[in-house]
Amino acid sequence: MSTEEKEILEGRQGEVLESVQNADATTSKKLYIESYGCQMNFSDSEVVASIMSENGFSTTRDVDEADVVLINTCSIRDNAEKRVRNRLTEFKKKKADNPEMVVGILGCMAERLKKSLLEQEKLVDLVAGPDAYRDLPNLIDEVGTGQKAVNVLLSRDETYADISPVRLDKGGISAFVTIMRGCDNMCSFCVVPFTRGRERSRDPETIVQECQDLFSKGYREVTLLGQNVDSFRWNITNKGEIKNKELPTVNFAQLLIMVAKVSPDLRVRFSTSHPKDMTDEVLHAMASFENICNYIHLPVQAGHSAVLKRMNRGYTREWYLERIEAIHKIIPDCAVSTDIISGFCAETDEEHEDTLSLMDIVAFDFAYMFKYSERPKTLAERKFEDDVPEAVKSKRLTEIIEKQLSYSLASNKERIGKTEKVLIEGISKRSEEHMSGRTGRNSMVVFPKGNFKKGDYINVKILDCTSATLLGEAVEH
Ligand code: SAH
Ligand code: SF4
Ligand code: F3S
Repeated sequence: MSTEEKEILEGRQGEVLESVQNADATTSKKLYIESYGCQMNFSDSEVVASIMSENGFSTTRDVDEADVVLINTCSIRDNAEKRVRNRLTEFKKKKADNPEMVVGILGCMAERLKKSLLEQEKLVDLVAGPDAYRDLPNLIDEVGTGQKAVNVLLSRDETYADISPVRLDKGGISAFVTIMRGCDNMCSFCVVPFTRGRERSRDPETIVQECQDLFSKGYREVTLLGQNVDSFRWNITNKGEIKNKELPTVNFAQLLIMVAKVSPDLRVRFSTSHPKDMTDEVLHAMASFENICNYIHLPVQAGHSAVLKRMNRGYTREWYLERIEAIHKIIPDCAVSTDIISGFCAETDEEHEDTLSLMDIVAFDFAYMFKYSERPKTLAERKFEDDVPEAVKSKRLTEIIEKQLSYSLASNKERIGKTEKVLIEGISKRSEEHMSGRTGRNSMVVFPKGNFKKGDYINVKILDCTSATLLGEAVEH
């Protein structure tokens, strides 16, 4: 498999591994934290680092000097869980040499696997679910007294709104800002509503404050995060006090505008949009602010309405295509990416063909593509047979990936000759002599480094491309 295919498969959700650090090393106790899964988990790890730093922990990149090791886990597909298990086995070996080290799991595997990881396999000392991070210092104390420390209670109102996350990529220019937690959608394949609980929105004033703070610290891009950002809603029933009486309710379009007004030099992105809820009002907000990036991630999952119905997605093929038309009508030159699942329960060849035909109609700029993986407790597990053979799932996935690669390449080729405004993220991973950054449409651009520095906006003329990257050179305007 080529690197590009791997990037497409592993790029966003599910199995990405990254260790993180915070340079402040003045305190005595050390925390090592590793995150798997979606952007939400990465953002949560920054909240965790903040809670822990209040309690005297600084973060380290070196697991061998850690007093506490926390793994922020993902349950979205079986292979995501397997990776975490392998990693925990490695930590167990380290613990044999250093019995004082506390090993804990956080995140989406916590609820489901607390018993087996803690009691049967004895792989961890501590388990904390996504709404229990404020309790971490107590849980760590409990481990010290020899108890099994568990808190997997899900909350209806925890949003960590008052916590100022510790940014784990010091000197970064792009940050995640969580605007809501949980999910109420109950797509039949999905474990998230079980692992993260009910949907709740965060106080918009705290969101804007966090974005202002990031901008003043040199950040130039925020990505607003939620499982379904279009259902963001802050109002009286959604927790109390409205400080700004002018705004009795705030929907996602209004929130976008509030964040866009922080500064024209702060790029605003968001993820994930849901086809059943994405309104024209959001599209108009995007069109009216240059700094709201022309990029929408709109997961389709499947191209046939009967499959979408079994998936409980709440829209049809036609509805989805109408939303795509609305995007292109309201926002000229908007990039669109998607998520696709191959081999969902009872998917026929014809239904799969319709996924391919929808890809031909939409011509996505980018996609994340997965084989269906049955998850415990979900509606699909209870109602349907996971009956598409593994080989068929794989064959269909390969067809989907091949098609997408050709559309990704075509989409990049179209940019050749154009000049794009790029926000520089740093030195390119593949060459010291080049820098890389993103266009508003979210394409990665590589160009000779000149005297530029990260955080600068520059215009780059696109000269060449692969299916994953644009190559170009800086121009005056
Ligand atoms: N809230 C987002 C997606 C969250 S999960 C949304 O509604 O689009 C990210 C992606 O993982 C999903 O879009 C889906 O394509 C994939 N996914 C979720 N559950 C899966 C499963 N059981 N098997 C395979 N892929 C899955
Ligand atoms: Fe899962 Fe659906 Fe919620 Fe996305 S919208 S997190 S796919 S239940
Ligand atoms: Fe995984 Fe949980 Fe995110 S299951 S994809 S870490 S919401």
